[in-house]
Amino acid sequence: MRPNDMPPEEFRRFSTQVIDWVEDYLDEMSDLPVFPQVKPGDVVDALPDAAPVHGEPMEDILDDFKEIIVPALNHWNHPRFNAYFSVSASKPGILAEILASAINTNGMLWKSCPGHVELEQVVMSWLRQWLGLPEAFFGEILDTASTSTLQAIAAARVSAAPETRLKGAPRDLIVYTSEQAHSSVEKGAMSLGMGLEQVRKIAADAAFRMIPAKLAKAIQHDRAAGLRPCCIVSTVGTTAVTAIDPVAEIQAIAESEGLWHHVDAAYGGAAAILPEMRWMLQGAERADSLVFNPHKWLFTPIDCSAFFCRRPGALREAFSLVPPYLRTEKDSRAVNYMDYGIALGRRFRALKLWFVMRYFGREGVSTIIRRHNLWARQLAGLISEDSRFELSAPVTLSLVCLRYKGTDEDNQRIVDRVNESGTAFLGGSVINGRYILRIAIGNIATTHDDVLRVWDAVRKAV
Ligand SMILES: Cc1ncc(COP(=O)(O)O)c(C=O)c1O
Repeated sequence: MRPNDMPPEEFRRFSTQVIDWVEDYLDEMSDLPVFPQVKPGDVVDALPDAAPVHGEPMEDILDDFKEIIVPALNHWNHPRFNAYFSVSASKPGILAEILASAINTNGMLWKSCPGHVELEQVVMSWLRQWLGLPEAFFGEILDTASTSTLQAIAAARVSAAPETRLKGAPRDLIVYTSEQAHSSVEKGAMSLGMGLEQVRKIAADAAFRMIPAKLAKAIQHDRAAGLRPCCIVSTVGTTAVTAIDPVAEIQAIAESEGLWHHVDAAYGGAAAILPEMRWMLQGAERADSLVFNPHKWLFTPIDCSAFFCRRPGALREAFSLVPPYLRTEKDSRAVNYMDYGIALGRRFRALKLWFVMRYFGREGVSTIIRRHNLWARQLAGLISEDSRFELSAPVTLSLVCLRYKGTDEDNQRIVDRVNESGTAFLGGSVINGRYILRIAIGNIATTHDDVLRVWDAVRKAV
């Protein structure tokens, strides 16, 4: 028996109860309102101000989970959770998370846990092949795309200005991205001490894609002003409307200017697994780094961000510092992931990705993603037939952006009414200065009927 911990009989009893609850929750979720009927402060008010002095029975803890926490959940795993990007924790991924917490490994060094570190290498190689990227890409799993992009900018910076490692952030290095890029690019630069003035936001075309000619011009302009261009971040599936930047053209500019090119495919990367959508990453095989989040659209529980880098030496230059207690013997097959990023401690995210990739296979995930894309196009067709609405952006993947032909307040009201109804959970964004509705399709359990129900709820909310 394991000293000091929960007794075996109690653990077996409650683990069965928990798994039963999970199964019922997932399979009956479609009947639940997506957003809860709560107001700010409800959960805080329902819980004690201080932690217990003496341990409490597991029954009470689980009861409070069901009675206080669950009723206050916005159900991200719901098939009609259509805000932000629609994500899902699939059942194989959930099972792997249980195992990962039971083994509780830390994959900082090969020696800290060989099975963890080597499985991470294997799944990243499998994923690299699914994305059609060459073997030269080193892969590691991080928490979020924000961290991955920050690491890419750090590696780009130390490549362009090796003095950074000793002297800190130079003020003349410039990062380029589209005006439609995710805020994590600016945040990454800021976190690295670069300042927002060192980030150029390049104009996008009518389909919200970065304009390569404007990028080239901005680089020339900065060089003429004595500044040092260092990194370009393109996006495959922008956050607001899933626009797809012309990666190959941007890569050509990066090559001719000698700049690092990082591809943010945090959301769109999943669709590049489909042979018919691989064109989106055309050119990325020559880029310096790429991020893709399996926790967005590859049915893997949050968090799991796949970061690929062709120049791992630059990552080591940016991040490697080995204190004496972490020194290990050198072996070319033994990867010490702590040398390639910010974090020392690294949880076993590869396990859930391995379970998901094996359980569904490439065909399995492709079939689901392909359907999401199809339903998004069909929904766009329905929207075009209703003269009260208009599409706000081309449908490239599984996100549909639309507007009611009224004021911004009318559109905001539609989102609020749909969300209050509990039928679906929608979000909005601002495009060309106007508020738009976003219907993101991407949950593993979403059906075509769910998509039609969401559209019905939007029309009724006018
Ligand atoms: C294109 C893009 N990049 C980066 C991010 C940030 O992702 P994360 O939450 O993993 O940091 C998002 C989030 O939606 C995104 O849409």
